Amino acid sequence: MSEDPKPWFPIRTERLLLREFRVSDEADVHAYGSDPEVSRFMDWGPNDAATTREVMQRWARSQEVWPRDEVNLAVEHLADGRVIGSFRLGLKAPGHRTADFGHSYHRAYWRQGYAAEAARALFAVGFGDLGLHRIWATADVRNIASWRLLEKLGMRREAHFRQDVLVKAAWRDSFLYAILAEGHGRR
Ligand SMILES: CC(C)(COP(=O)(O)OP(=O)(O)OC[C@H]1O[C@@H](n2cnc3c(N)ncnc32)[C@H](O)[C@@H]1OP(=O)(O)O)[C@@H](O)C(=O)NCCC(=O)NCCS
Repeated sequence: MSEDPKPWFPIRTERLLLREFRVSDEADVHAYGSDPEVSRFMDWGPNDAATTREVMQRWARSQEVWPRDEVNLAVEHLADGRVIGSFRLGLKAPGHRTADFGHSYHRAYWRQGYAAEAARALFAVGFGDLGLHRIWATADVRNIASWRLLEKLGMRREAHFRQDVLVKAAWRDSFLYAILAEGHGRR
């Protein structure tokens, strides 16, 4: 991270606005957070209404802190104003210059390039203003959409962890993918 961390969002892309969550986003967030298909490979969900509210309250409290080691942003679909997903960037303490990310989208918006569009915008900011050296992510080995997307983003598979996460009462294997600033610059 840079020495003087200013909020680096909202970020606007061609079709999306990545911004902080608002209380009024609750119905949109619940629409994808309650879908078992969306959270199938995740260590959370499907969320009931009370859990969605708790998560949103936690995000609202985190907005009072800056800088923060984890930033959760709403992905707003500009054409209809709906929040279609969320993006989490985990930033280590200043000086470490590495970050990890995760994201989830409403099923109706899958396979239209939205996740790639948002991630590319985050990479540009991360390797640009934030001065990151490395960005990494993990994916359940069975979550083909997730790790194919990471490959499409130019990330390299660095590891296959065996039974490293307990998800929905079962141990899962994960791939770890990463991209370096120099690799990003070449794309
Ligand atoms: C994984 C996820 C974020 C992908 O979002 P998306 O908006 O559909 O992804 P994109 O449309 O940007 O796809 C980009 C690339 O990812 C790959 N991809 C995405 N979905 C895929 C699928 N179902 N099968 C195979 N590859 C897929 C493809 O390479 C695709 O490029 P292409 O369409 O040109 O072939 C979305 O499926 C999702 O929200 N899943 C549930 C939550 C989750 O698993 N999150 C990731 C773990 S943190």
